[in-house]
Amino acid sequence: MDIVLGLQWGDEGKGKFIDLISENYDITARFNGGSNAGHSIERNGRRITLKMIPSGIFMKGVQNVIGTGTVLDPVSFKKEILNLQVFDNTVQPENNVIISLKAHFVLPTHKLLDVFMEESPDYTTIGTTKNGIAQAYSNKILRQNVRVGDMFAPDFKSRVQHILERDYKMLAAEGMSLPSLEEISNEFFEAIDFLKNFNCTETEIYLNAALGEGKKILAEGSQATMLDIDHGTYPYVTSSSTIAAGASSGLGVSPKKIGEIFGVAKAYCTRVGNGAFPTELFDEFGEELRIKGNEFGSNTGRPRRTGWLDLPALKYAVMINGVTQLVLTKADVLSGLKSVAVCIHYELEDGTIETNAGTLPENARPVFKWLTGWDADFSVIKDSAALPTELKDFLSFLEAELEIPVGYLSTGPGREEILKMI
Ligand code: GDP
Ligand code: IMO
Ligand code: MG
Repeated sequence: MDIVLGLQWGDEGKGKFIDLISENYDITARFNGGSNAGHSIERNGRRITLKMIPSGIFMKGVQNVIGTGTVLDPVSFKKEILNLQVFDNTVQPENNVIISLKAHFVLPTHKLLDVFMEESPDYTTIGTTKNGIAQAYSNKILRQNVRVGDMFAPDFKSRVQHILERDYKMLAAEGMSLPSLEEISNEFFEAIDFLKNFNCTETEIYLNAALGEGKKILAEGSQATMLDIDHGTYPYVTSSSTIAAGASSGLGVSPKKIGEIFGVAKAYCTRVGNGAFPTELFDEFGEELRIKGNEFGSNTGRPRRTGWLDLPALKYAVMINGVTQLVLTKADVLSGLKSVAVCIHYELEDGTIETNAGTLPENARPVFKWLTGWDADFSVIKDSAALPTELKDFLSFLEAELEIPVGYLSTGPGREEILKMI
């Protein structure tokens, strides 16, 4: 089993890369997160953003697993499937999406609670996607949640109804203005009926059996290392395990079965939501990068914060995941600049230098190295040898610092805009 995961704060271009390489696999499998993900794929000049559906969905013959470590919102999933069928009517998700019986549900009140907690002065505002992700995962950990497999039980409806009513009581007491309970529960149970058309099974058995038959699995990370619940910039993180080890636990596949670990990173950094971002640019150039890179959340449309590449954070992410190949995206966005900055280390107040860092004190000072920029028309570059020398130097610099090869260089959002480097 190989893994693709994000090395920064999400939106590195995982979806685009997976859509492309899934042709080498029999199965793609999401192992964490839920509809907070937004994985954009461009096909024939048209674009779709997948939230819950794995990015191998367009590849004929590939099965797409929604694994045990994910949280599934049936209402959002139904909308996503209907939207997918409008985008491409040749896709038959009922035949090639497989859902874990052990994946947890995101209930309608989880989303309301997410909104409430984000807006209430009594809680830390994280800047979430308001998809109820933390609330579903926390109820899972509390052992109070319902799972996909429960939808076949005769008492499912009453169990869900009980949770919804309990949460409503709490939210109403807090003074939140709420939609009609009847309306949201009807919408939820209609989506459950829709979900029952899909193949729901013990995906860990399915995946291990597939590996036993020599089939190839690609695990698809959502969010990214710096948003990991344990190893990210807590509390400004998501609520799941986004790292390579999370693929193993989220899918029920032994770490012994892991092969290649593709770490996807942009040639600069972005972040959406609150939390530390030491290399953030607040000037006009930061805004220029946002516009040129189209840095607006695929999921929520929020403008992404932009900044220079953060090497200490990237080294940390490579270490945590055991990345074997770097997939560098968006080098095209930096094209045309005279020079390009990379944060090479942090200097702490007492003069200490940090070159590998997941969490930094507020007052750490990023120290930048300026490299010569590149200018290229990527539409005509079909071979890595034809890349400008300055970009080759930039890639060699990253390879030397991170001690891993750049396996792929993505040069645009389109499917074909990628160069295989090794
Ligand atoms: P994901 O969440 O990691 O799948 O990334 P998103 O899809 O949320 O965001 C990445 C954005 O960058 C999308 O709009 C992609 O179409 C786009 N993209 C991906 N790779 C490249 C690239 O190499 N160059 C440019 N210009 N855009 C890219
Ligand atoms: P993909 O898979 C970028 C961020 C949110 C917020 C924090 C917690 O497209 O890379 P949550 O809704 O998960 O409770 O929000 O995490 N976040 C993402 N940022 N890309 C994502 O996914 C994200 N998923 C969550 O903005 O800061
Ligand atoms: Mg995204």
